[in-house]
Parts: sequence; C-alpha cells; structure tokens
Amino acid sequence: MSKYIINGGKRLVGQVEVPSAKNAVLPILAGCILTDEQVVIHKCPKLRDVDNMLKILQGLGCIIEREGTDVIINSSNVSHGIVSHDLAQELRSSIFLLGSILARIGKADMAYPGGCEIGLRPIDIHLEGLKALNIEVIEDGGHIYCDASNIKASDLILDLPSVGATENLMMAAVFAKGKTIIRNVAREPEIADLQDFLNSMGAKIRGAGSGVIVIEGVKSLHGVEYTPMPDRIAAGSYIISTVMCGGDVEFNNIIPEHLRSLVSKLSKTACNISVKNGIMKVRSNGRHPRLPKIDTMYYPGFPTDLQSQITALATICDGTSIITENIFETRFKQISEFRKMGAKVEVKGRTAIIEGVSRLSGAEVTAEDLRGGASLVSMGLFADRTTIVSDIYHIERGYEGMDVIYTSLGASIVRQD
Ligand code: UD1
Repeated sequence: MSKYIINGGKRLVGQVEVPSAKNAVLPILAGCILTDEQVVIHKCPKLRDVDNMLKILQGLGCIIEREGTDVIINSSNVSHGIVSHDLAQELRSSIFLLGSILARIGKADMAYPGGCEIGLRPIDIHLEGLKALNIEVIEDGGHIYCDASNIKASDLILDLPSVGATENLMMAAVFAKGKTIIRNVAREPEIADLQDFLNSMGAKIRGAGSGVIVIEGVKSLHGVEYTPMPDRIAAGSYIISTVMCGGDVEFNNIIPEHLRSLVSKLSKTACNISVKNGIMKVRSNGRHPRLPKIDTMYYPGFPTDLQSQITALATICDGTSIITENIFETRFKQISEFRKMGAKVEVKGRTAIIEGVSRLSGAEVTAEDLRGGASLVSMGLFADRTTIVSDIYHIERGYEGMDVIYTSLGASIVRQD
C-alpha cells in the first residue's frame, strides 16, 4: 500500500497549474459514447477514477488511446450496455453511464455503483428521473436493468438538486424527440461544462447553471475535441494548504467565480487573495485568526467537497470554529485521524465543533476517503515532525501527482510504495 511521508513546517511558495476537474471529466467521458465518431479529451487527468471509467468504456466496446494528456475515444463498436459488476463497485460515477448507455443502446444492465464511503449515496433520484422519461427500470438483486425503447421527452422535477442525477438525465434525454424540461436541477459548474461538451457535439441543451435545464432532442451527435474545466476542488485544496502552512502561491488555469464561497470565507482570515489576468495569488503569513461559521450547501454555497479541508484548517485557527455538513451525512469520518495529530474536534450530528490549537504533531494516519485524505496531507504539511499518511489510493482517485505539486512548492513529501 502506498503512503506519503511528510516532514511539515515548510512555507509553500511557487505556482500551481490547476488540472482539469475530475467531476467534469467523468460525466464527459460517459458522454463520449453518445456519438460513434471520435472524441478527443484534452488535458485529461491521470486519476484512478478516470482509469476506471475508461476501463468501463473499453468493456462496452470503446477503443481508447492516451497520447500525452489527450484521451482519444472511439465508440463506433459500442454494441451492448452491460457494465461489469466489479468496475461499477469501484466507481460511483459508473451511474452516469446509465443515461448515456440508454441514449446510445436503448438498454442497460448495471450493478449498483460503489465509490467514496461518505454516506448513503442513494440513486433514487436518478431512477425516478429515468422513469419520468418513460424508461422502464427494474431493480433486482443489486442490479439495475433499464429499457428506453419507449423513452418520451417529459417535464420533470427532481426531489433534490443531485449533481449526478442532473447529468445522467441530460444525457438520457439527448435524443428523446421533443422537449425535455428538468426542474430543480443542480447548478454546479461541472453541469454547465457537460452542457458545453454535449452542445459542442451537436446537442441542444440550455439552462445549466440555472435551476431548469431544457433539452431538445436531436437525431445524432458528432465527434469533438474538448478541454474540460479546471478543478475547483483541487484548487481549493491547495489554496487551503497554502493558508495553513503560510506562503505565496500563484494558481493558473482557475475560474475565480467557482471558488467564490471558499475565498469569501478565507478573506475573513489573515490571508490575502487577489486575482489578476486569470491568475489567483494566495498569500498567507501563517497566522490563523478565527474562521467564520461554515455550512456546506449546493452550489454556489460552500462545497461539501472542501468541507474536510476547511475543517483541517479550522483545527489550527484561533478560538472555536463551527462547521456543518448538510450534503453527506458521514463526511466527518476523518476526524478520528485528525485527533491523532492533536486536533480538538467534537462532532455532534452534522456539526463539527473545533477548538483551535497552535500546533499539530506528526503522526501515522490513514486516509479514509478522497477529501479526508487530502486534508490529512495538508495537516501533515503544517505539523511538527513527520506524518505518514497511508492508504493514499483514496487520494489518488481525485488528485494527480499531489506529492509532485507540493514538492514543487517547497514542501517535504515523498510517495512510498
Ligand atoms: C457529485 C460529486 C461529488 C460531490 C457531490 C455533491 C461527481 C463525480 N461527484 O456527487 O464529488 O460531493 O456531487 O456536490 O461529480 N441523493 C439522493 N438520491 C439520489 C442522488 C443523490 O438522495 O438519487 C442525495 C445524496 O445522498 C446527497 C445529495 O443528494 O445527500 C447530493 O448528492 P449528488 O449531488 O447526487 O452527489 P453525486 O452526484 O453523487
């Protein structure tokens, strides 16, 4: 099992080129099978989740090549919609394939998806949405069988603005004759990116970013070359580490608007964040005044995917911080590992109450999930002495070369197999 060995206490100085967003790339890859022409995804990150998605696509009959950071996908041989049980278990985003498989093949057979263990993560909204499009859905023994032979464009409303369900339904309805209206959709920027990708292939979708998406069915889609949006969550993770360790870091390939909720919280602390010519500069003198109260919420609220990282920062801020997780019920799993490093955190239901300490001490800790693991690395970079973070395969699901990036900023971090 791989681990990171970190010697903390270094300021972070330098530049970070923000990679493409995992959460944009995964649904986009699922969308590649909507055409039998070639699709090229530029700047495709090398991540475990991406590799698993590519393996699922290969299992469906896609021919995939990597050339540098490009991924070239040819789906002309896709002829069935059966997703292997093992890969569906590895990757929750396999669920995004349900919509695109149904649009392409008309029938799908998939095991219930696995993925990050951060709560119940049901898929009822996905399935109810498909049914509202007159798709037959049969759940049986951990499998989902769907038949879209009688798909009908419809006007439907989601119970919750689920990101995955919104993306799945956009793809399911892309060829449905007439106008599909999906209400109460998620507004996350990755949805607008999927809309842009599908429209660049010839789809007619509008409304992403608002609460209502309208899809006018088209007959077919064509090949395209596409560069997915920058990863706001990876950027946010590195920004938070800079604030924790103190330093001076420039972030390229960033969309500041996507990070507004994080920046507005951090701006109330001692760091200085400015944006000029598309480059975000984060300067921190290493002081950590009290953090304002934080509640995770759907976009444009504070993202649940940065909750662990901001909790890590809160462990070293002055006074008491209050952080409430409103999206995923068990996303405080990492706290027991935080405590091994000297953090003082109490969890009451969905709220963490954090008494800031001035120092953290290095410890042997285990990544329990993707974002929790990234938070342990940030704490290790700040802490006295040596921190060993094990089970970093969780981190590598969503962060490419995290050790390389931190090393380039002057940190002492080594990846050991
Ligand atoms: C996506 C992101 C994930 C992020 C999450 C919330 C990807 C690959 N993953 O996950 O990183 O943390 O958005 O921003 O893009 N829910 C239901 N029934 C459903 C679907 C969801 O009850 O059928 C609930 C979930 O349990 C959760 C909430 O809705 O409480 C939001 O989940 P959702 O937006 O669907 O998250 P994902 O798409 O899985």
